[in-house]
Amino acid sequence: MAAPQPRLRRPSVTRQVEQAVEPAVRLSKFVRRFGDNIVIDGLDLSIAPGEFVALLGASGSGKTTLLRTLAGLDSPGDQDVTTPDARAVVFQDARLLPWKKVWRNVALGLSGGDVRPRAEAALKEVGLGHRLDAWPGTLSGGEAQRTALARALVREPGLLLLDEPFAALDALTRLKMHDLVLTLWREHAPAVLLVTHDVDEAIALADRVLVLDKGRIAAEERITLERPRTPDARFQAIRRRLLGHLGVESAPAQAEGHLVAFPTGEVVL
Ligand SMILES: Nc1ncnc2c1ncn2[C@@H]1O[C@H](COP(=O)(O)OP(=O)(O)OP(=O)(O)O)[C@@H](O)[C@H]1O
Ligand SMILES: [Mg+2]
Repeated sequence: MAAPQPRLRRPSVTRQVEQAVEPAVRLSKFVRRFGDNIVIDGLDLSIAPGEFVALLGASGSGKTTLLRTLAGLDSPGDQDVTTPDARAVVFQDARLLPWKKVWRNVALGLSGGDVRPRAEAALKEVGLGHRLDAWPGTLSGGEAQRTALARALVREPGLLLLDEPFAALDALTRLKMHDLVLTLWREHAPAVLLVTHDVDEAIALADRVLVLDKGRIAAEERITLERPRTPDARFQAIRRRLLGHLGVESAPAQAEGHLVAFPTGEVVL
């Protein structure tokens, strides 16, 4: 009689593997409606710890709605939404309190005896160590957004949510912010969900680019190009595919009905 096969039991290894692949964000068949308007319609989404994901989609497609749910600003009701406890959001406008100095804006909501040094360290990281005691009203647009980034990062979020954070900045400042965000992401390693209308920005920064359409993820591109990314042939191919998913045939600049794609990759929908 054959000897019984030993049972493979390696629970500790299995647990480690399971933990390693446990996503930072998970939504399954998620629905969000406003009255009769179903904005998110059975959406599945998973983001790995430390993964940088960009989200594209037409205006009104539900990007901010999704982001607000992930931020905990909107209740998911009884639906299953997995996120890290520590989350932070940066919006298009910095939303600083004008009556609090820059460092106090960054320290908002923090407690403990080391609040000032923590705020100071975060502001130094974004290059604003010299503006700690400035009033928000005296900051440039780029400085205000860097302050908002410092305020987000001082909380060491497991999930950093960025809703068009660079949209109001000039092109040069925007490029500097891209470098800064990548540096901070490497340093702190949060999962990131960046909402943007700028296809080039999405490809330049993200590990994965998603397109939201009709309430679901309609397309996905995994970007394996080495950073820093230059607009070489592979970049352009990804760009063409994403523009196609967004309903824009090709760049450079062409107008088609109300869709306009600029050579920069920015799409107005
Ligand atoms: N609080 C609300 N009450 C009712 N409808 C809402 C509310 N918030 C969002 N909506 C609707 O949900 C839809 C998606 O809005 P959302 O702001 O998520 O779009 P978006 O993709 O972020 O657009 P944009 O690119 O213009 O920022 C829109 O039709 C909007 O009018
Ligand atoms: Mg929005």
